[in-house]
Amino acid sequence: MALVGTKKMFEMALKGGYAIGAFNVNNMEITQGIVSAVVEEKSPLILQVSRGARKYAGISYLNAIINVVVSENPDIPIATHLDHGDTFETCKQFVDDGFTSVMIDASKLPFEENITVTKKVVEYAHARDVVVEAELGQLGGIEEDVVGVEDVGKHLTEPDQAVEFVERSGCDSLAVACGTSHGAYKFKIEPKLAFDVIEKIAEKLPGFPLVMHGSSSVLREFVDLINKYGGDMPDAMGVPEEAIGKAAKMAICKVNIDTDLRLAVTAKIRQILAERPSEFDPRKYLGPGREAIKDMVKHKLDVLGCSGKAAECM
Ligand code: 13P
Repeated sequence: MALVGTKKMFEMALKGGYAIGAFNVNNMEITQGIVSAVVEEKSPLILQVSRGARKYAGISYLNAIINVVVSENPDIPIATHLDHGDTFETCKQFVDDGFTSVMIDASKLPFEENITVTKKVVEYAHARDVVVEAELGQLGGIEEDVVGVEDVGKHLTEPDQAVEFVERSGCDSLAVACGTSHGAYKFKIEPKLAFDVIEKIAEKLPGFPLVMHGSSSVLREFVDLINKYGGDMPDAMGVPEEAIGKAAKMAICKVNIDTDLRLAVTAKIRQILAERPSEFDPRKYLGPGREAIKDMVKHKLDVLGCSGKAAECM
């Protein structure tokens, strides 16, 4: 059984100077694309589901797809994770549904309230052997119903607060605000991540796993294809991959990627439908969309440094 929590993955990632890719799944093709990349690369994997994904596909479908993935790939350690749980009740629901990891994102609440709700989730989850990611500081951008702040630079995680937060809440990993942003329109100019924030938190919390959200690079090749074939995304911009690679070598153990999956599949589907206007068999565009995801994820695993690390994370 390769369904695992994230403890061992993060321990190995910290030791080895790499990060685990946490990819958002919404349907079968996206999941298959991600998983076939991970299997070829022999990487550990975090499959994450948002409330939006749950609403779109239904948890029984998502769980059934994930169960097939887990049973067909016993050599790949796979954690299932709730992305951006907004309340204790949401987190409880995912714990009860068998997820091995949940995120409580109470980062918009005042510090004390964030600690209180995180602690409540930790108590419930730990009693059932489930790990908890929390968030302190705020990101920019928009992802589904998670709307970020305008000026990311003013809402970075404060290192001393991070120490107090982790100690008092008991969370297992912490999503930090270090200049990233959700979605395809992250920045207007080439961003500089606050590596000093990551460094300071890591110094104050040695051995503690940090998480980076909003980590899509918004790869030019997909944006260009989308624009070429009828799309309209002129100002899309993401986090440069060198920055992601650098963070992965630091205390960032989990890197969240959703937008790059969406762009890869959309670009390929747009291209096929534009080039073959008489095509009406969904398999003829969803299949190549799935392949595009696979190729993109293989590349990401390389950037994160987690190719070949499946066995040591079991
Ligand atoms: P992107 O929008 O950069 O892919 O970030 C996804 C994410 O952080 C999910 O929690």
